Amino acid sequence: MSTDILDKAFAEKKVDFLPLKGTDHVEFYVGNAKQSAHYYKTAFGFNEVAYCGPETGVKDRASYVLQQDKVRLVLTTALKSDHPISDHVRKHGDGVKILALWVDDAKYAYEETLKRGAKSYQEPITKEDDFGSVTTSGIHTYGETIHLFVERNNYSGPFMPGFVQRENTFKVEGTGLKYIDHCVGNTDWGRMNEVVKWYEDVLGFTNILSFDDKQIHTEYSALMSKVMSNGNGYVKFPINEPAEGKKKSQIEEYIDFYEGEGVQHVAIATDDIIDTVTKLRARGVEFLPTPASYYTDLLDRVGPIDEDITPLQELGILVDRDEEGYLLQIFTRPVEDRPTLFYEIIQRKGAQSFGAGNFKALFESIEREQELRGNL
Ligand code: FE2
Repeated sequence: MSTDILDKAFAEKKVDFLPLKGTDHVEFYVGNAKQSAHYYKTAFGFNEVAYCGPETGVKDRASYVLQQDKVRLVLTTALKSDHPISDHVRKHGDGVKILALWVDDAKYAYEETLKRGAKSYQEPITKEDDFGSVTTSGIHTYGETIHLFVERNNYSGPFMPGFVQRENTFKVEGTGLKYIDHCVGNTDWGRMNEVVKWYEDVLGFTNILSFDDKQIHTEYSALMSKVMSNGNGYVKFPINEPAEGKKKSQIEEYIDFYEGEGVQHVAIATDDIIDTVTKLRARGVEFLPTPASYYTDLLDRVGPIDEDITPLQELGILVDRDEEGYLLQIFTRPVEDRPTLFYEIIQRKGAQSFGAGNFKALFESIEREQELRGNL
């Protein structure tokens, strides 16, 4: 195809100009990566697969790469105060810095997104070792969050050149976490549509679902949300914004404590949510409580489901249905002392939506916690 035809097809969204193969990894900047890694290993069942730090010739930071099935997390800490990673942690606390996207061509992804208005974070860099080569490039998104494009060229090493292979020094059993289903961004007042447009213009995403404050509200507070998806649906980024209510929106609480926009939650998929949540609870992962009243008329609301209600109620798992099927989901409490990042565990049984039917029950639960923190 000539460039003209391609440009026209892109404009009409007939060709996905930026095919994504999925989420490559999520990198966190944290105050103490060694201890964070221990938490994700013991509580969530991740295995350490790679490492870089002073012992491997990296003098200013340490990074631990953890993996469970297709979920790959990187925990990074700076070794001195005079470092951008330390600045990030001082301002935001522990949080997500990088949402890395797996692409076929990181140079093309960089040039194409810059042409469409992206701000550069890192020019394409190719690194090589005995296992092959990896090219990365990066652009800024909301807040201080980055999208890194990762091109893996049949790389066979444990993570990337510069990292050495590592194994857990103790055995952990996995908890059935399979892949990252979606990552949600919290944006500031009046910013959601701007960010949505950015994902449309710069990354070629489409808005597949929208919720306004009439749909997402409780007696006290409200928020708005738009779900952005790439062409093949492998990468989904819901974008939230606070809305006015009688009391403070949970999104505003996040923005206050993260001191800016950032990643609110990472949703990880499982094939057996009852088993996964049983294991996570046994290892000390804290989930938001669900009131008993939620389960009394559950089947009237969602229709027949394969699971027994009893274990769902014991574990606090929520259920929602859309035209295509149903889903089961549960949310952790924030995993740091600042009420910022938390996790969602999700099992999809046909449903491709995000649990809109649970928003009210979920937000009431969040608000009870917000009230305990004195932030409602
Ligand atoms: Fe979610």
